[in-house]
Amino acid sequence: MIELRGAATGYGAIPVFENMSFAVGKGSAMAIAGPNGAGKTTLLLLMAGMLPLWRGAMHVAGNDVSALGAEERIGVGVVLCPEGRRIFSTLTVEENLQLGATTIRRSLHRSGVRRAINDGLEQVYSMFPILRERRHGSGGALSGGQQQMLAIGRALMSRPAVLLLDEPSLGLAPLIVDEVYAHLEELKRSGLTIVVVEEAASRVMSFADTALVLRNGRVILQGDAKEVSEHLDLAKAYVGGGAG
Ligand SMILES: Nc1ncnc2c1ncn2[C@@H]1O[C@H](COP(=O)(O)OP(=O)(O)OP(=O)(O)O)[C@@H](O)[C@H]1O
Ligand SMILES: [Mg+2]
Repeated sequence: MIELRGAATGYGAIPVFENMSFAVGKGSAMAIAGPNGAGKTTLLLLMAGMLPLWRGAMHVAGNDVSALGAEERIGVGVVLCPEGRRIFSTLTVEENLQLGATTIRRSLHRSGVRRAINDGLEQVYSMFPILRERRHGSGGALSGGQQQMLAIGRALMSRPAVLLLDEPSLGLAPLIVDEVYAHLEELKRSGLTIVVVEEAASRVMSFADTALVLRNGRVILQGDAKEVSEHLDLAKAYVGGGAG
């Protein structure tokens, strides 16, 4: 579904990756783990078209999207749910969701837009009933877990084929993290392709099918999520933590 081949990018003239390759199939999930500054967010920004591809190529559903910018990447179904959730706290929950429908507005004639947005809202509200209950309240009044659901819901409003999530469990209590992941399981079963970044590997590895562990822009482990997770546990047992 989404494939990177020999990808390189960075900031200014300073590279973060020189040669990154992986593929994530339709309806499957890849975890990206690694310590602070490893390049996890950079990799998502690259896939979302917010950083340019210096070398290599990116394909989505067999099409070369290497040259497309951020807005066009959303158009081909690659949607980023950024770190820190970025909820507009003074807007209502429903207004926050409507902001996610920008591409619907651009791709349809006016008459179809309202219906498409209403269908999107209905889909999000049936997945997250609490957002329907709080739809006229402000985004800022939601709890951390509810804000994460709102951020995911807003991304879903763009009708993604590939959802990129940056640290969705950051700052959430373990029970709420499980709830967020239960929703991600549901989305994966519905055929969505998911790439999820987490600094702590534990929860995401049981969700993901494949995994990539980064350190300083280099891939230190890559493959089946279960095997990668076992390698990390083993490494931790030997060095006493900090393996990701
Ligand atoms: N806007 C920027 N300008 C210049 N360098 C940056 C910028 N953002 C990140 N970097 C550098 O790129 C490298 C990778 O950073 P990145 O944010 O991708 O790491 P990360 O794995 O997401 O870390 P964290 O766990 O802290 O979110 C780091 O060396 C970082 O200092
Ligand atoms: Mg990051």
